[in-house]
Amino acid sequence: MDPLLRVQNYLSSSLSVQQRSRLRRLQALRFRTLQHWVFRVLFGRNLPTLARLYGTDKWGSHWYATHYQTHFAPLRLRRLNILEIGIGGYEDPEAGGESLRMWRTYFPRSMIFGIDIYEKSIHDETRIKTFRGSQIDEDFLIRVLNDIRRVDIIIDDGSHLNEHVIRTFQLLFPHLSTDGIYAIEDTQSSYWASAGGSSTALNEEATTMGFFKKPIDGLNHVEFEHDYKPTYFDKNITAMHFYHNLIFVQKGANNEESNRHLFKR
Ligand SMILES: C[S@@+](CC[C@H](N)C(=O)[O-])C[C@H]1O[C@@H](n2cnc3c(N)ncnc32)[C@H](O)[C@@H]1O
Repeated sequence: MDPLLRVQNYLSSSLSVQQRSRLRRLQALRFRTLQHWVFRVLFGRNLPTLARLYGTDKWGSHWYATHYQTHFAPLRLRRLNILEIGIGGYEDPEAGGESLRMWRTYFPRSMIFGIDIYEKSIHDETRIKTFRGSQIDEDFLIRVLNDIRRVDIIIDDGSHLNEHVIRTFQLLFPHLSTDGIYAIEDTQSSYWASAGGSSTALNEEATTMGFFKKPIDGLNHVEFEHDYKPTYFDKNITAMHFYHNLIFVQKGANNEESNRHLFKR
């Protein structure tokens, strides 16, 4: 009998189910480390290719990877803490983790953190750590933030329910680093009634797109000609980029002065 087959037979008869699953996990992790190094050397700067290789839907069923590359390329070699909401795979604890692995390879010096409502700790590995909890559970989010301390990039790819997207942004954006970036995926749910959206009430602030249209005017709040008390978002958002189903919000001090006094007419 093939010696390898003999070892395999021996292991399957002598190890418990738990021990066998731990062994399988160890093998998978070793393979993932090798995969990470190969992908990093060959395609480390090419996010669309990494997205395809790791199998995340950020390229293929969506076309987000090129936009991410535009915004993230200048940050790639920095030591960042990146938090993604939504690890993937839903109830299946072994499924998902594709985008976390993609970020790990693309940002070779950064820590990648993932949040999911389901248990996903099987995807923990060097520079990847997962947390189980809901994106709208404030106590849970505070525990995560206390654990990771600083967060430089947040990506919301969780439930995509309008109420959740807005609440999560309200809870997490104030904790994002100065100069941090907050990305929201799958904003198509803003138009879907089943997710709490609307395709007729386009300025309704309870929908994702309706909510994020307001801070666009907030960028220019110093130009308003009436008494206005700027919100936290007015004062701390310096740019917003809208793509098909994807938003980037750039954090920073929005404190440029108006040039109204130079405008003669
Ligand atoms: C689209 S998948 C994420 C895919 C992954 N980010 C990728 O790009 O490969 C969405 C994930 O969000 C999780 N999710 C759903 N509701 C959530 C909630 N309230 N809080 C946290 N995660 C949630 C689901 O369990 C699912 O695994």
